[in-house]
Amino acid sequence: MKHLLSIADLTREEIDSILDTAVSMHEVQDRDVKKLPTLRGRTIINFFFEDSTRTRASFEIAGKWMSADTINLTGKGTSISKGESLRDTVLTIDAMGVDMMIVRHPASGAPAQIADWVDCSIVNAGDGTHEHPSQALLDAYTLRRALGDLDGRHVAIVGDLTHSRVLRSNLLCLRALGASVTLVAPPTLMPAGVASWAGVDGFETSYDLDEVLPRVDAVMMLRVQRERMSGGYFPTAREYAVTYGLTPRRLALLPDHAVITHPGPMNRGLEISAEAADAARSLVLDQVSAGVAVRMSILYHLLAGEGSTQ
Ligand code: CP
Repeated sequence: MKHLLSIADLTREEIDSILDTAVSMHEVQDRDVKKLPTLRGRTIINFFFEDSTRTRASFEIAGKWMSADTINLTGKGTSISKGESLRDTVLTIDAMGVDMMIVRHPASGAPAQIADWVDCSIVNAGDGTHEHPSQALLDAYTLRRALGDLDGRHVAIVGDLTHSRVLRSNLLCLRALGASVTLVAPPTLMPAGVASWAGVDGFETSYDLDEVLPRVDAVMMLRVQRERMSGGYFPTAREYAVTYGLTPRRLALLPDHAVITHPGPMNRGLEISAEAADAARSLVLDQVSAGVAVRMSILYHLLAGEGSTQ
């Protein structure tokens, strides 16, 4: 494995292997001295063309805990602001001898394009509305810790699905792990043609959150991405919160064992109420914690594992 661009590129065995390695990586988090020698001498660039808190910080921590040298770049502070092209920029970084670039970019497909240009490993840290594979892997890890084997479990993915890159990665990952999935969104925020997405089958769609909630093992609430809604906002925030928000009333519709996830950042009071976000069954901070372990595992598999090509 050289790159992590899409969950679609991973076999079930590779997903299991990343999640299994993350279990031992998670133990590092509880140590006083959080340092493994695994990636000593390796150089990793975090190249983020969009804002991030969780993904950027956890990839940086993961690299540091594995003794790699990690450097952060954003679009703003580079010569891209002087008109340098993306291709010239990444070829310049690659020529410095880095081992990996972790790329977040607003254009769907940008990390895959960069992987075609450069020699180093590329990790997709979120590209446009396409994919966010490390998020899906950490979500699967978190759900597996809470629910056990995901085979046969039922997960509802709820929210602004049209603008979500977390959706496609999670749908691919959960289906690969044998979970059944229901996508829930207002008709205006259900992606057109989702039923025929390449590589995914065996899921259902619904516009009725109240009907779906009583039969799930987990509900994954996704953020309403107002910054991507240039043509107006429908339904309105108030309508959305009433019809699709995880309100205290809807919280009571969940089975006792069911858990709640949200990849963050959350719009409290819009897609998720404070009561749901802070409930005992909410795994939001468990996801953040798992993010470091799973990203350590990803770095290991791409730069040091048996199948790595580095
Ligand atoms: N979930 C997620 O990608 O969060 P950030 O944008 O903070 O990285």
